[in-house]
Amino acid sequence: MTTAPLTVSAGQQADADWWRQAAVYQIYPRSFADSNGDGIGDLGGIISRVPYLQQLGLDAVWLSPFYPSALADGGYDVDDFRDVDPKIGTLAEFDEMVAALHGAGIKLIVDLVPNHSSDRHEWFREALASPKGSNARARYIFRDGMGENGELPPADWTSIFGGPAWTRVPDGQWYLHSFATEQPDFNWKHPEVHEDFKRTLRFWSDRGVDGFRIDVAHGLAKDLDEVLPSRAELKAMPKDGTHPLWDRDEVHEIYAEWRAVFNEYTPARTAVAEAWVETPERRAKYASPEGLGQAFNFDLMEADFDATHFRDIVTDNLAQSAVTGSSTTWVFSNHDGIRHATRYGLPPRNGQAVKHGAEWVLAGGPEDGIDKELGLRRARAATMFELALPGSAYLYQGEELGLHEVAEIPDAQRQDPAFWRTTAEDRGFDGLGRDGCRVPLPWTREGESFGFGTGGAHLPQPAWFADFSVEAEDGVAGSTLEMYREALRLRSQLQSEESLTWDEKLSTGDVLAFERPGGWLSVTNFGDAPVALPEGEVLLASTPLASDDGGAGGVSTGGQQLPGATTVWLRRMGA
Ligand code: GLC
Ligand code: CA
Repeated sequence: MTTAPLTVSAGQQADADWWRQAAVYQIYPRSFADSNGDGIGDLGGIISRVPYLQQLGLDAVWLSPFYPSALADGGYDVDDFRDVDPKIGTLAEFDEMVAALHGAGIKLIVDLVPNHSSDRHEWFREALASPKGSNARARYIFRDGMGENGELPPADWTSIFGGPAWTRVPDGQWYLHSFATEQPDFNWKHPEVHEDFKRTLRFWSDRGVDGFRIDVAHGLAKDLDEVLPSRAELKAMPKDGTHPLWDRDEVHEIYAEWRAVFNEYTPARTAVAEAWVETPERRAKYASPEGLGQAFNFDLMEADFDATHFRDIVTDNLAQSAVTGSSTTWVFSNHDGIRHATRYGLPPRNGQAVKHGAEWVLAGGPEDGIDKELGLRRARAATMFELALPGSAYLYQGEELGLHEVAEIPDAQRQDPAFWRTTAEDRGFDGLGRDGCRVPLPWTREGESFGFGTGGAHLPQPAWFADFSVEAEDGVAGSTLEMYREALRLRSQLQSEESLTWDEKLSTGDVLAFERPGGWLSVTNFGDAPVALPEGEVLLASTPLASDDGGAGGVSTGGQQLPGATTVWLRRMGA
């Protein structure tokens, strides 16, 4: 077994290891920047903003699906895995975007969606046009129905987005979709599915893509007998590698095949798994160097802003990554969750604020029990905590502006199938789905879509976006944007070996402090009351310290205070 080295010095980091401590920025393309005024973000918009990305100081961009799609699930319903959606660009523009990013020193990771296609994919159309029992149907999961005339679904399963997981086709058979009706699940027992995805991996790798984010990586392998278990039976089955639908052991045979493809390239293409599994040990299998190499850990996304939770999560994940030889990942926000500036302004839920699937909830609108100011202050502290950790940090577009979730989208304008496939009753009174974190970014203070484009925005932007726009924060000392820029700049200078030492003396009560090699000390006060600031050269603080004007610079002599909900980075004296 080959184990990647744990000691990598930032300056001389071998190119093949670029991902290990990368700062990766997720672009949700339809909501990033619109270059042609049709209200939909596009590749031209991304190209025009490469200088912005470069100034932010990123190592890589993760691009959410940009493939042809009817957008039944925001692009995760893919019509053609080897093309660009004409609504957002062309293959030639894709190549131009890759060149622009690479020219700016930024790698590109693209989203790959192997669990399902869209119902408009040529294979699914062929399946519908072909008879029961045909090869075309065998690429998906078709079954006869129950009941006298097959009028009942083959099983009573519900989809992750709510509603039934089986849909009937005109000749009476039913197909499985773990997500929306428009997302039929592939049958990964079919060799053509394997061959086609390897072709897709090579197609994008040949175009210069550096890595892949694997959607629903734990779902591909399925094992279904003729007689299907009921929903209740499925729920009672352990997810230990033997569950018929999720996290089956043989899914790793697929990733071993892919690893061989990744290793055809120099440097080897990378991958990161989105795998919602039961235990850290099961997650580690996805991060194996013989498989995808890295896996998301969503633990911080699910935790309250709490010193004890954060410490346990960091300790566990560093231990796991040491076992696999991978590097760990950190995420606070993405296109599926409530933005962390808002989440941390909600009452604590002991991890219940964010749940996968139809259970995502946002408690009310901005007036309803959300302390936006405290939420943002904590989010900034959390981000600086994250950026000081070893491993890769995955940032979501807009978090560098301190954007909040947009709760005030009229129901009629919502797009998320998770919203539409559940009733208000199932969701609870406050379940709003995922549109609130997908509203097009504000670039300027004014203008119809705050500089997103010239033709409006596909989801409505609230008036308060003006104050969170790039224009409002650019060059403003202490703004969230300037804090991210400075933190990323310092991180790339300070980062060296992938190790961390807790400072036990400082880490008491609501305070967590750890040191990275080279005397880089990160101290977070998770509480409300100020605590004594340790001695050292202050590099950056997430909220201004009493005696300076912007959060940077100066030497703490021990008399200063570290305010509540704040992270400070210091360089130990003499280090
Ligand atoms: C993943 C994506 C999510 C999508 C789902 C189905 O969880 O992150 O956005 O809806 O897969 O593809
Ligand atoms: Ca456009």
